[in-house]
Amino acid sequence: MANIIKTLKGTKDILPQDVNMWQFVEQKAQKIFSSYGFKEIRTPIIEITELFSRGVGDTTDIVNKEMYTFEKSDRSITLRPENTAGVVRSYIENGMSRLSAPVKLWYKGPMFRYERPQAGRQRQFHQVGVEMFGLKQPTADAEVILMAVNFLKSLGLNDLDVEINSLGCPNCRSEFKEKLKKAIKPYLKDLCEDCQNRFEKNPLRLLDCKVEDCQKIFAKPEIQDVLTSDFLCEECSEHYTELKLYLDRMGVKYTENKLLVRGLDYYTRTVFEIKSNNLGSQNAVCGGGRYDGLVSQLGGDETPAIGFAMGMERLISLIEKKEPKKLDCYIVSNFPADTFILAEELRSFGFNVEFDLANKKFAKQLEKASKVAKYAVILGEDEILKHEVSIKNLETGTQITVRREDLPKNIKQ
Ligand code: HAM
Repeated sequence: MANIIKTLKGTKDILPQDVNMWQFVEQKAQKIFSSYGFKEIRTPIIEITELFSRGVGDTTDIVNKEMYTFEKSDRSITLRPENTAGVVRSYIENGMSRLSAPVKLWYKGPMFRYERPQAGRQRQFHQVGVEMFGLKQPTADAEVILMAVNFLKSLGLNDLDVEINSLGCPNCRSEFKEKLKKAIKPYLKDLCEDCQNRFEKNPLRLLDCKVEDCQKIFAKPEIQDVLTSDFLCEECSEHYTELKLYLDRMGVKYTENKLLVRGLDYYTRTVFEIKSNNLGSQNAVCGGGRYDGLVSQLGGDETPAIGFAMGMERLISLIEKKEPKKLDCYIVSNFPADTFILAEELRSFGFNVEFDLANKKFAKQLEKASKVAKYAVILGEDEILKHEVSIKNLETGTQITVRREDLPKNIKQ
């Protein structure tokens, strides 16, 4: 026998018995996001590589190490590692800046990152996310965070931790970066290679490093002093204070985490993550923030924007498993031609119906019906002659016989 071909490392099949959970989360996303006026957008999974090197940033792990990139007709193409850059591209390309602000978009779909697979971390994973364009006011930040929390609540996830921080604007941040570099410089040679490379280009990203020796260095008091200092300019500080006031007013519980920098380069001002204690080391279910410079950086007009994305696999691992839905009816009969007609009739009323296509014995059919359906619809010789059907409720065991035309109103979907 030939070798069996298996899924690639870091990828998974989503099997029929689990798909209902995915549909449940996707339907909730659609319902909750629409209730805040967000409209769904579907962008391609492949994009020009430059979109991500310019958009996500060439000092990030995503761009440096994790992209699935290939050449086709002399063009460098990448499987999207995230979808903010793609949605921004679409916003610019389709002239959405002409629409009245805010433009509110949501998406769902697969993303690809060549990372070391582990629990909660895959190479092909799925996100649901939102992006809101055109508002610089902190009310936009508050609405987006509130909506993320309410979406998670709608999935039964009430006890997650919301962490927020402000990274300031390019102006106040550049002063902060210089101070941070000055404090870290004496230890530069002891940092890992990645940190040494990032030191000049993007010192804030050093804080994201997971190497223990680097973390020990960042815990030194003189570096912590800089990290916890208030570096925000007046406008950024006001924006952050107002956001916190709105969150307080809306009863959204959060903690401030000065070390929260996020792993992508495009963020300005507000960043946030929502974490769970039940996820092990990959504990973030949601990550997001404001990216006021990205639209112009990718060739559009100056446009403030904010959004978030959540990992579907992590969400699904946290929510209570739901049994897949049963069929409405399973027809039990040894008269295939009549059964075909009855099944089609019931389907035209919107019922989910199956019957035995292999002409198995009556008892076997009934056994199958009790496993897969809510009702067994019995169509024997007697019933056919009298233009009747018997309906057995497979949950209660009760059975009734009705005129055939009364069948639909006697079964509940
Ligand atoms: P991110 O933090 O890279 O942000 O990803 C968001 C979420 O996707 C994470 O919190 C996590 O739940 C999930 N995730 C990320 N990588 C993996 C993986 N390898 N396996 C499983 N789940 C994963 C973004 O992607 C930004 N685009 C979010 C955003 C939208 N910011 C503004 N707008």
